[in-house]
Amino acid sequence: MLFAIPDVLSAEQVAQARKTLDAAEWIDGRVTAGHQGAHVKNNLQLPPGSAAGRDIGALINAALGASKLFMSAALPLHVMPPMFNRYEGGQTFGTHIDNAVRVLPNGQRIRTDLSCTLFLTAPEDYDGGELVVEDTYGTKNVKLPAGHMIVYPATSLHHVTPVTRGCRVSSFFWLQSMIRDNTQRALLYDMDVAIQRLGAGKPTDPSVISLTGIYHNLLRQWAEL
Ligand code: NI
Repeated sequence: MLFAIPDVLSAEQVAQARKTLDAAEWIDGRVTAGHQGAHVKNNLQLPPGSAAGRDIGALINAALGASKLFMSAALPLHVMPPMFNRYEGGQTFGTHIDNAVRVLPNGQRIRTDLSCTLFLTAPEDYDGGELVVEDTYGTKNVKLPAGHMIVYPATSLHHVTPVTRGCRVSSFFWLQSMIRDNTQRALLYDMDVAIQRLGAGKPTDPSVISLTGIYHNLLRQWAEL
């Protein structure tokens, strides 16, 4: 399941982030690619641990922590510090699957269940640069407004088409979900949405209470912490 989270950052936050990022030093993106990815990756990245990346990453993490949609759909356990990339002058990232395991700055390993891309450039400011995700249900081309984010299963083959005009700046990162299985996670999300809809205005309805309990008991059955 792919899901978009609108307005993770406001227009003002995006403008501030871009000001900081545009003034930062960028390096060859191949430093964080896996063996296969390095052959098809051609972009620039902020060096891991850079001050600019830390500041804007903290802003993004805080925004996601406050997003009910993100929390319900991703059920995050560990979220990696956001990283940042930049494509211009025909740069591209060919078809690949992201590494299954990543290491947090404290040395802890996390499994990458979900991949996230937060767009920091308005779509009209560049040509190309679409994130193309090969999903179970077909191929999805993703190019979202600045400040919006796409979340997709890290098990998906994906690529970024060449940026032929302008410059595409984005944040990208991975997370380990409490629910490893994509189908179980999607069921829980659908159930949560249905319970919220049913319970609107009647939170003490016995059926709403019962279904809320079932949601939590399923989460208890399936969650890995
Ligand atoms: Ni990737």
